[in-house]
Amino acid sequence: EYPLPISTTKTPELTWTGNYSNAVIDYYEVEIKEFTKQVYPNLPATPLVGYDGESPGPTFMMQNGREAVVRFTNNGPSKSSVHVHGQYNRAPFDGWAAATSNPGQYKDYYYPNAQNARTIWYHDHSEYTTGENAYRGQEGFYLLHDSQEQSLGLPSGDYDVALAIASKVYNKDGTLLFDTNNNTGLWGDIIHVNGQPWPYLEVEPRKYRLRLLNGAVSRTFQLSFVPDEIMGFGSNSIEFQVIASDGGLFEHPVTTKYLAFSMGERYEAVVDFSNYKGQNITLRNERGMGENADYAATDFIMRFAVGETVTDDSNNDDVPETLRTMTPAPNTAISKDFTFERNDAGDWVINGVGFSDIEHRILTRPKEGDDEIWVLHNGNGNGTHPVHIHLVDFRIRSRSGGRNEVLPYESAGMKDVVWLAGGETVEVLARYAPWDGVYMFHCHNLVHEDHDMLVAFNVTQLEQ
Ligand code: C2O
Ligand code: CU
Repeated sequence: EYPLPISTTKTPELTWTGNYSNAVIDYYEVEIKEFTKQVYPNLPATPLVGYDGESPGPTFMMQNGREAVVRFTNNGPSKSSVHVHGQYNRAPFDGWAAATSNPGQYKDYYYPNAQNARTIWYHDHSEYTTGENAYRGQEGFYLLHDSQEQSLGLPSGDYDVALAIASKVYNKDGTLLFDTNNNTGLWGDIIHVNGQPWPYLEVEPRKYRLRLLNGAVSRTFQLSFVPDEIMGFGSNSIEFQVIASDGGLFEHPVTTKYLAFSMGERYEAVVDFSNYKGQNITLRNERGMGENADYAATDFIMRFAVGETVTDDSNNDDVPETLRTMTPAPNTAISKDFTFERNDAGDWVINGVGFSDIEHRILTRPKEGDDEIWVLHNGNGNGTHPVHIHLVDFRIRSRSGGRNEVLPYESAGMKDVVWLAGGETVEVLARYAPWDGVYMFHCHNLVHEDHDMLVAFNVTQLEQ
């Protein structure tokens, strides 16, 4: 058992400030490159391709109001396109799957950092190879803060920990096996957190803010925190508060014992370890979720070893009842239907179209600023599809045909991924703004996305 790796924090190369302007723009440089790391105990070191030779890559700590430019230099073995998942980027900098850099090239990406605080992540988005590139290391955190969020007294510093959960398969020589099961998915038997199989983290007996990312290629998870003494009695797991999802803080925290999420989704939880001095808390995964293949230890994610003393008691109070105010949902919206299914050729498609269908892959043209309800149908009930829409934050309005409910932590905040399980129809409502341009939407089972469940919409100022 190894300690949880914590990625380095990225620091800017320089900062530009404007004359006669409030602009403050930080400039960063990141190198995509191969490296080898001893990951799996008793196997040879694993070749990976990551950002700055780390996986997860270095963490960007961004502040609302400070814009950023990041130069990603591709010194890796294959083409790359970087997507910052969870903020509204201008279209040329959103990681369009066909706008790849070749090995030896670089691209400068501009990021506005103009939204409310949230847990964002960045990952490769190259056409047809996103899954393999993310799997072999190209993903990392991008944390956006704002002053309102920083005034809430939430656990911060060492007590604010980002956890990227993933699952992988190893060959005996230490290399990663990327086997997509006839393009259905890669579920993986080895659970990783921040790139390390089944790690532990030493924590103090106090509150922590845990940022949870499902960064797996195909595996969905249902999480619970279980004290060792009652292992095996899942119903005795610890209650915790969910305070945020993809689009940032909720208005009010949601108390739960279980948290289910699919690929690409993020949640933030405040967990209080104060009653567990000297004990172990296991972060467990429920078996039998979605269509995952389960293996001997896929029910275990990581362990928190709770110490005896608190070194810093600041930002350790009760979570405020009101975290922020959200703009109310509009009363009217246009409605559009999208069906996610597998066609007879074995390709995954949306309304019959995949990314390789260049002529038809722009499926719809929302007018800039319009509110639209997208009705997402899981067509032939074949597989879980976490649906991700770029550019926008949406509200989940309804779910029918399967679980028939929107869970409290799914509806408490704004989302950019929604879990569409077999047989289900889900309605999501978003405002198509603030930028025009062509953006992607797709399934975040990266194997489906690459074969070929990735299409686009064009936000336009023209009347349709
Ligand atoms: Cu997380 Cu279009 O991606
Ligand atoms: Cu899918």
